[in-house]
Amino acid sequence: MHKILLVDDRPENLYSLESMLAEDDRIILKANSGEEALKIAFSEDLSLIMLDVQMPDMDGFEVAHMLKSTKRTKKTPIIFVTAISKEKKYMLQGLSEGAIDYLFKPLDIDITKAKVETLLKFYTQQKELEIKNIELAKLNDEKNYFLGVASHDLRNPLGNILTLASFIEQESNNNLSPEHKNYLEVIINSGRHMLDLLNNLLDVSKIESGSMELQLQQGLITDIIQQSISENKLAADKKEISLEYSIADKLPQSSFDAMQIQQVLSNLISNAIKYSHKGTHVEINADLQHDSIVVTVKDQGQGIPIAEQANLFLPFSKTSVKSTNGEKSTGLGLTIAKKVIEAHGGSIWMTSTVGQGSSFCFSLPLENVSAHQPVMMLK
Ligand SMILES: Nc1ncnc2c1ncn2[C@@H]1O[C@H](COP(=O)(O)OP(=O)(O)OP(=O)(O)O)[C@@H](O)[C@H]1O
Ligand SMILES: [Mg+2]
Repeated sequence: MHKILLVDDRPENLYSLESMLAEDDRIILKANSGEEALKIAFSEDLSLIMLDVQMPDMDGFEVAHMLKSTKRTKKTPIIFVTAISKEKKYMLQGLSEGAIDYLFKPLDIDITKAKVETLLKFYTQQKELEIKNIELAKLNDEKNYFLGVASHDLRNPLGNILTLASFIEQESNNNLSPEHKNYLEVIINSGRHMLDLLNNLLDVSKIESGSMELQLQQGLITDIIQQSISENKLAADKKEISLEYSIADKLPQSSFDAMQIQQVLSNLISNAIKYSHKGTHVEINADLQHDSIVVTVKDQGQGIPIAEQANLFLPFSKTSVKSTNGEKSTGLGLTIAKKVIEAHGGSIWMTSTVGQGSSFCFSLPLENVSAHQPVMMLK
């Protein structure tokens, strides 16, 4: 049932409009002043308001203004019904107050009916969309909850598998056949990869559900850079890739979540190593630009084709660029990095040329979001 509110100070206009619009699936409500119209609009769920412009006390423009500035009624479609001229300035005034359309008196019956019909359809579709959006948000919350529980609960048994496999490896005293040794290595490597994936999924589900908090503290980005480099040193050495860093003089302290920023930087450095060939260089740079600290990780790797760059920060967006030494990847590192950096009020971007290498940069504003703010805006 659609409820339509007709507003006019003249009863004869109200009755002729009512007889024009009455249908089985409609309830027609009538008000003969702006004040009465507001009273009805604030208490009823209206699909459409037909509003006379010239009324004593409160005119139609004022009523529309009030309706559009009130949460409950701001989306209700309004058609102005007016006898005043079609002068552009009047029409613009009404439209700027939020009216969807105009009808001019004397009313043309067919046009009036057609416009009302269209707007009611539009209103129904809008409502359906709102309901669908609520359902989708609910499903998304359930998905995050499920993802969180599943990845969390899978970590314990996986931890057991890894610990026991490593135990067998250590205790075997070289008594294992080469074949069995190989099997064990496959178990351990696959287990570690699965653990990485579970940890990343857990991070994504926490971020998406808004339950990940930033633990902001004053610190030096230099410390984070050094820790991230030492975390990746072994992987770099294996491929004879040199990790070099340069940090601008007197970089000020800033506030960030050290663990999360280290996770971001470590992922960028591990990517630079993973997707580069043996014997190349990776450079990490920290600089002050305007009111932000900008960190850059530059490699001499394979580079990423332009067509694939736009989706890089979306979940599971692995590109055609593959790791050069069989290193594993989950395709979630950059997604998490983007969310973490944006939660800090910064941004992350990249440039890349195929065959020459890539630079991944992120900025951290010196003036930051307040401590312990949930990462709600990351969704
Ligand atoms: N420095 C880089 N050079 C070339 N390609 C890169 C680079 N960094 C990322 N990529 C491409 O972007 C994809 C996404 O990177 P991302 O860090 O999100 O995931 P990943 O490295 O595949 O897995 P993980 O979740 O373990 O980090 C990679 O699979 C790779 O194809
Ligand atoms: Mg990565």
